[in-house]
Amino acid sequence: MNTHKIAVIAGDGIGPEVISEGMKVLRAVAEIDGGFGFDFTEYPWGCRYYLENGCMMPADGMARLAEHDAIFLGAVGYPGVPDHISLWDLLLTIRKGFDQYINLRPVKLLRGAPCPLADVKREDIDMLFVRENSEGEYAGSGSWLFRGQPNEVVIQDGVFSRRGCERVIRYAYELARAQKKTLTSISKGNALNYSMVFWDQIFAEVGRDYPDVETHSYLVDAAAMFMVKDPGRFEIVVTSNLFGDILTDLGAAIAGGMGLAAGANLNPERKFPSMFEPIHGSAPDIAGQGKANPLATVWSASQMLEFFGHQAWAGRLIEIIEEMLVDGSVLTPDLGGSAATAEVGGEVVRRLRAGA
Ligand code: NAD
Ligand code: IPM
Ligand code: MN
Repeated sequence: MNTHKIAVIAGDGIGPEVISEGMKVLRAVAEIDGGFGFDFTEYPWGCRYYLENGCMMPADGMARLAEHDAIFLGAVGYPGVPDHISLWDLLLTIRKGFDQYINLRPVKLLRGAPCPLADVKREDIDMLFVRENSEGEYAGSGSWLFRGQPNEVVIQDGVFSRRGCERVIRYAYELARAQKKTLTSISKGNALNYSMVFWDQIFAEVGRDYPDVETHSYLVDAAAMFMVKDPGRFEIVVTSNLFGDILTDLGAAIAGGMGLAAGANLNPERKFPSMFEPIHGSAPDIAGQGKANPLATVWSASQMLEFFGHQAWAGRLIEIIEEMLVDGSVLTPDLGGSAATAEVGGEVVRRLRAGA
């Protein structure tokens, strides 16, 4: 039997609460299918681990993760450990170390999901963000001079390599071609006169290989406005690390909330494991209360199933999420319900079995 080896990093705050539901769902899928299985190995890395051991993961952490087919991650970061340490020493180390240069984030308003926008047709909110995930504004390059002195200077570089831009933009063109969708590039060449001028140039260069793909380009400020005023303009979207980070939280807000927003960090060459995670953080404000919505994690589990070639199951999970949103009786408080995290996961499994 085909067994997928998954490294599980539940992480901090609501991370463990949502990840245990995600594992429950994946186990049920495999059991019902019968043709493949999951072998989960849980790693207790995160902020508590840091407070006990002085590091977010052990020195051989990456080597251990590398032995798996994929990583399933909850959330990282918690009060008590500075965010730039907890995130750089775990989440960002993994994304960069395993060259997960594609961050795929669907922004799709399912039936039954709440939307704060007026006068917008549900089917107009159906986008797929391809966020550059390995360099750009989050390259981690810079310096901090004259620390604490009156002449203190901080420099944070954006790093846009030709290879880095070309590969993410080409990936997005391929997706647009395969799905027969338009492709929109979001940048900011008017103010970022090196990095984003370069980005726009590469978008045009790569585009010469895809004359069949209809393209659009927006400045990021206008794009943010249009996502709210006229979201139907966007189908496949390609953008930089920082812009993709911000715009996908905006995307979450218009497509049902953080509790429904999923993401996949892909190494398309499959040289290293890819990582699947909800895009939300550890939500310290609701952690430990059973209020966390696990559906974003279930959606990420669907992305994992798709990545492994189990398209039908991937699709079934999204259908079940939509059925549950329409039905409305087993949802967490962020979606207006009163169910606990584990009840929502349980309901996904019940529906999987009922439909089997
Ligand atoms: P957050 O996403 O954790 O929370 C923002 C708001 O959304 C909160 O009100 C929270 O209750 C709500 N929310 C988030 N996920 C939810 C869910 N599944 N169900 C219901 N409500 C949900 O963002 P934040 O508060 O800015 O960050 C908290 C911590 O998480 C910080 O340490 C931050 O650095 C970290 N963080 C980690 C990741 C990650 O691991 N991928 C992503 C973002 C933030
Ligand atoms: C996300 C998060 C991370 C990012 C942070 C926590 C480093 O906000 O996954 O969207 O910016 O990539
Ligand atoms: Mn983010």
